[in-house]
Amino acid sequence: MLVPRECRPGETRVAATPETVRRLSARGCSLQVELGAGAASGFDDAAYGEAGAELLDPAAGAAEQWGQADVVLAVQAAAIAQQRQELAALRPGSLLLGLLEPHANDALKQQLSERRLSALALELLPRISRAQTMDVLSSQANIAGYKAVLLASAALDRYVPMLMTAAGTIQPARALILGAGVAGLQALATARRLGAVVYVSDVRAAAKEQVESLGGRFIAPPQQEQQPGESGGYAKQASDAFLAEQRRQLTEQLALADMVICTAQVPGRPAPRLIDDAMLQHMRPGSVVVDLAVAQGGNCEGTQPGTSVWRNGVQLIGADQLPCTVANHASALYARNVAALLEHLLESCPADASALQLNLEDPIVSGCLFTHHAAAGGAA
Ligand code: NAI
Repeated sequence: MLVPRECRPGETRVAATPETVRRLSARGCSLQVELGAGAASGFDDAAYGEAGAELLDPAAGAAEQWGQADVVLAVQAAAIAQQRQELAALRPGSLLLGLLEPHANDALKQQLSERRLSALALELLPRISRAQTMDVLSSQANIAGYKAVLLASAALDRYVPMLMTAAGTIQPARALILGAGVAGLQALATARRLGAVVYVSDVRAAAKEQVESLGGRFIAPPQQEQQPGESGGYAKQASDAFLAEQRRQLTEQLALADMVICTAQVPGRPAPRLIDDAMLQHMRPGSVVVDLAVAQGGNCEGTQPGTSVWRNGVQLIGADQLPCTVANHASALYARNVAALLEHLLESCPADASALQLNLEDPIVSGCLFTHHAAAGGAA
């Protein structure tokens, strides 16, 4: 199993850590890690070596090294597939595993199929109980929700908690969170820990109880005939009329908010536009919006990936790569998710197989299967 250096700009995470190298080695796997693969997330080469990995110098005979790998473990696997020439050296049936941006990515699918490679897109992992330990979207969204509140608090021109001081009482900050999925609920928990009063909007009925159990106040979706509904636990795309009504409903909440954390998403679709420019005019100068959905078009009009812009004194932070700013723990959790998936794949592999074979009957495999070509031989 080969762990390459990530190549997408800004990516600081790594798909295996010394801990998971040990864990997978104990299962009989041999791990090769490119020199410097963990440098940006605080895992140095020596630690991988001590854990039992073979260290590879990408400058020396990289194609030959890739040609011996049965599995490539990556974070930004789509970037690896598009930018690392060594991919051409992988044998037919080898497996690429990582984030593949699978929604509407036919060109990549074709490229991998032509090379006769198998690929698992971790974004497509089914949201079922037994796959929870493998769920990278959850582990990374959790980090994004946490860090979004810290960013907003640091940018805010007010205290977050209520304070009684000799100079008088300070009222707690008011946070508005759009979307009560994994990131939204962690943002709620973090803002509550800091002492904010937190309001949360979601279109899924199940979100109300979760929000209230964490001490948030739930904003019920507008009573429209055409509720977006949900499928597989995810919200479906809302109609334009529903979103217009939702924006009307949220205008008043925005005017009262000190920080707004935007996490509302619909998989494979543009993010719902919940804040427009006219609504921003009603916000208090000095307040902050952090848009985690910015890479999918943003919940808030005007946010831009990786940067801040100001509208009438309101800071809009386009936060598209927050897990990369918590690189050590983000990598530790991502790598554990990957190790759990690999252990599952090894367990469901026929006992007499000489290579890692994907069991296409397994809902975890079929759920995240992006391309498939049967492995011919070799050890995992
Ligand atoms: P996500 O990142 O796709 O979306 C975030 C949130 O935005 C969702 O709660 C969604 O309902 C909400 N949203 C969409 N449109 C909206 C709108 N117009 N206004 C307000 N909110 C809107 O969701 P995430 O975090 O991936 O979670 C999706 C579901 O998967 C949840 O039900 C979660 O509990 C479930 N889940 C299940 C897991 C498991 O069983 N293994 C693991 C993780 C999540």
